[in-house]
Amino acid sequence: MVDNKPPAGNRPTKLIAAVFTGIAALLVVALLAVLPRLLESSGQGPAIGGPFRLIDQTGKTVTDADYRGKLMLVYFGYTFCPDVCPTTLGAMAQAYDQLSPAQRDQVVPIFITVDPERDTVDQMASYVANFSPALVGLTGSPDEVKPVLQEYRVYAAKAEGNGPNYSVDHSSIIYLMDKNGKFSTHFDGNASPPQIAEGVKKLLAAG
Ligand code: NI
Repeated sequence: MVDNKPPAGNRPTKLIAAVFTGIAALLVVALLAVLPRLLESSGQGPAIGGPFRLIDQTGKTVTDADYRGKLMLVYFGYTFCPDVCPTTLGAMAQAYDQLSPAQRDQVVPIFITVDPERDTVDQMASYVANFSPALVGLTGSPDEVKPVLQEYRVYAAKAEGNGPNYSVDHSSIIYLMDKNGKFSTHFDGNASPPQIAEGVKKLLAAG
């Protein structure tokens, strides 16, 4: 005959097993809670971008939250830049023009200066007007701009030796941020207007 009754010693074993299962489940829940942060810091989900509080070309203080609900195309440079910045901002403005009116309503192109000392509000206003009436130009005090450069991992270094006519070496990347202000993708500074427009349309189509 087969005895189906569990041996007497089995009950505590079951209890211990249940406790361990419970602990394991808690650990899984805890891990899932911190996983996004772990992924971000490990570089798998690059933490690019973040909050800012700057002044636009009309003199109004704006924050990143003001653009929530829209995609942000963000480029960093300076108005005295001889070649790279005008070319890239021109491409960004053309890409914006290639969107439909409904798409344009959901996108804001933003130029943030890496040279706040020379790029005053008035200087930014006359500069961004060269490219697009939709282009937002953001500046601020050096102390306000610096953390934004760090958040976006922008490289910018003043080239010494030319007095007030100094140039600024800087990285040239267009960042595409989603409607929640989170980094989605980037374009090289020499990307074509259609390439940029396609990327924007793709993200808009994704929701
Ligand atoms: Ni430049």
